[in-house]
Amino acid sequence: MASQDTYYVLVIEDTNTGKVVGTGNLLVERKFIHSLGLVGHIEDIAVAKDQQGKKLGLRLIQALDFIAEKVGCYKSILDCSEANEGFYVKCGFRRAGLEMAHYYESKK
Ligand SMILES: CC(C)(COP(=O)(O)OP(=O)(O)OC[C@H]1O[C@@H](n2cnc3c(N)ncnc32)[C@H](O)[C@@H]1OP(=O)(O)O)[C@@H](O)C(=O)NCCC(=O)NCCS
Repeated sequence: MASQDTYYVLVIEDTNTGKVVGTGNLLVERKFIHSLGLVGHIEDIAVAKDQQGKKLGLRLIQALDFIAEKVGCYKSILDCSEANEGFYVKCGFRRAGLEMAHYYESKK
């Protein structure tokens, strides 16, 4: 099963400057629960400061969402700050669940 897990990295390049102005990743995980269903984890969404507000973030999410659905995920999930909740709501996501974290002191 592990060999079927897949990681997609998406970048948006400014063709005028050759600079990467947006990034986002999708990790596809096969669950033991939900009949071995696939879940997409959207990570590391970022748009360059001077390019924000041009719908690049929305396009990144739409593209990763499209891939997730095409490869058979039954949902995609992500973590975000309260400040970005409105952005993800506009991208079609809704608040679900609660994130927990355990930070390892030895990794500082
Ligand atoms: C959050 C981020 C990815 C948004 O990307 P963006 O390209 O600026 O956003 P878009 O232009 O695609 O915005 C799409 C819609 O969401 C809205 N929106 C964007 N950021 C928002 C926010 N923080 N809160 C509420 N709405 C927001 C836009 O106004 C737009 O709405 P509209 O369709 O009504 O005009 C970008 O600001 C960013 O990279 N921030 C820094 C890194 C970061 O916080 N990443 C998220 C990690 S979870």
